[in-house]
Amino acid sequence: MKQSLCTITSNAEIMPGVYLMGIEAPDVATSAQPGQFITVRCEDFILRRPFSIHQIVIASEAKQSQVALLFRIVGKGTLWLSQRQIGDKIDILGPLGKGFSIQSSSRNLLLVAGGIGIAPLVFLAQRALSSEGHSVTLIHGASTAAQLYPFSSSPLTLNPSPSKGACPREGEKQSNLLSLPSGVQFIPVTEDGTMGQKAMVTNILPDFLTWADQVYACGPVNMYRAMARMLATSLEGNKVKMKKCQVSLEVRMGCGIGACYGCTIETKKGLKKVCRDGPVFELDDIMWEEVRI
Ligand code: FES
Repeated sequence: MKQSLCTITSNAEIMPGVYLMGIEAPDVATSAQPGQFITVRCEDFILRRPFSIHQIVIASEAKQSQVALLFRIVGKGTLWLSQRQIGDKIDILGPLGKGFSIQSSSRNLLLVAGGIGIAPLVFLAQRALSSEGHSVTLIHGASTAAQLYPFSSSPLTLNPSPSKGACPREGEKQSNLLSLPSGVQFIPVTEDGTMGQKAMVTNILPDFLTWADQVYACGPVNMYRAMARMLATSLEGNKVKMKKCQVSLEVRMGCGIGACYGCTIETKKGLKKVCRDGPVFELDDIMWEEVRI
């Protein structure tokens, strides 16, 4: 965990109210694990805001290695962040928390993203596909096509020499970080059927469970509750065999470093701090009826 001032290399609104920001953060880029997060000091707010690490790009020039953040404007802090320009500096702290783990015997990884919950799963896909022998399927669900992450097919590249204040040119609205790691099977689903299958992610999830060795998810609490019910009925011998699953929780945080108890949740293993013991937990360890997110 390290505090540093980092230069913004790109910042673009890629969906209504959702921004993709690249920052030069070599220490985080080289040490972070998928599922970990950083906190950012937004303007003069006392509490830092937590953000999942969305992607990393390791540059040949080590100090240019980047971290990408994907965030939705939800208040004054994120509004302030969305208005930062290329070349501005932001104060970050991280990497923080405990991330996802991949068992050495696992080959087929199923990633399940609800809405902006795709943020930490792209980094997980990157990491899984950086070593031989993993297949990754990413199911991404949203209410409508405009809320789906607009991946391009081009590879990840760096913004080589960002100039202060530069804005994306017309036709370049998409950040150059906007791509999926090559090799990911991407399955979009929308509730209104405007792209991919007309479904919720939890409707099509069972189709992939036989294939998957491990399942990872990030999304709204209702998605987790549905998955937890599937897991519970599977364990009772139901036909749908939901697997154990690692989930990333998004909760309000205070300090982000385990000092304030502001993020405490009840689990079957006792009280846990999301910022220090998580944000990644086992799906069936969480007492979903108690959790208020
Ligand atoms: Fe302070 Fe987790 S945010 S203990």
